[in-house]
Amino acid sequence: MAAITLIGSGKAATVLGKALKASGHKILQVWSRSEANAQELATILHSAPVSDLSAINDHADVYVISVKDDSIEEVAGKLHVGNKIVAHTSGIKSKEQLRAASENYGVFYPFVSMTKETSVDFRKALMMVEGSNESTLLTLYELAKTLSDNVKQVDEQQRQTLHLAAVFANNFTNHMYAIAEQILEEKGLSFDDLRPLIASHLENILSHPPSTLQTGPAVRGDQSTIDIHKALLDGNEELKKVYSLLTSSIQDFQKKK
Ligand SMILES: NC(=O)c1ccc[n+]([C@@H]2O[C@H](COP(=O)([O-])OP(=O)(O)OC[C@H]3O[C@@H](n4cnc5c(N)ncnc54)[C@H](OP(=O)(O)O)[C@@H]3O)[C@@H](O)[C@H]2O)c1
Repeated sequence: MAAITLIGSGKAATVLGKALKASGHKILQVWSRSEANAQELATILHSAPVSDLSAINDHADVYVISVKDDSIEEVAGKLHVGNKIVAHTSGIKSKEQLRAASENYGVFYPFVSMTKETSVDFRKALMMVEGSNESTLLTLYELAKTLSDNVKQVDEQQRQTLHLAAVFANNFTNHMYAIAEQILEEKGLSFDDLRPLIASHLENILSHPPSTLQTGPAVRGDQSTIDIHKALLDGNEELKKVYSLLTSSIQDFQKKK
């Protein structure tokens, strides 16, 4: 089992930290800019809170940097951990951003949506790993295997492409659900009425290509229905734009098929 120090105390650090601890690893230190945040997560993980990067010691085997993408390079540049393994958890940033921290660096990217409120079944989650050399890659691969049965060594382009696809498949669709929730609530209706529809579609998506599952007025070319929907959105020009853009996108996609 490994000794791990977590750099960050947000959603990913929290969920990953709990999963690593549950798999038997020891979380030595938890760093956050905020003393309170470091303390909160360190208490959960029975670890030591740190709010000063220079107080991160070199006792851990692996340093997992899970701060916002734009801060990874800056934070890594302030670590003094010798040649210990340093990995970030970003789907998009290059592992080269960690070069200043150690010669042994890589990526430890859980391909799941993590919030502090929801639980994650890591055994099924895809974990992507990269390493600056064979031994780093192997250590991160073995660490990921303790969490998941679905670990892949990827290259940067594959990871970025999967991340981009996930933004469309997961982040954007969730935004659509949030818009639907707002539309219903404004009329005193409940999102609960959509849940069976969504569940049945998700079930189909698990076994069919999504491009074969498109339904609705855009793909049918039912212009009068589209016009009624737009009229229902009168007064909300932003949503009307989103509706029109997606309708055109569906129709262009079908034409090119
Ligand atoms: N959440 C997910 O579903 C998910 C999934 C896979 C990968 N990831 C990756 O995990 C990493 C963290 O994402 P997250 O979702 O956990 O974000 P988050 O919940 O917003 O947490 C961001 C963390 O970054 C820290 N931070 C923000 N600005 C900073 C700065 N200027 N300097 C140093 N630290 C700063 C925050 O520190 P404070 O506590 O001080 O605010 C917090 O610990 C990202 O690389 C993301 O791509 C996230």
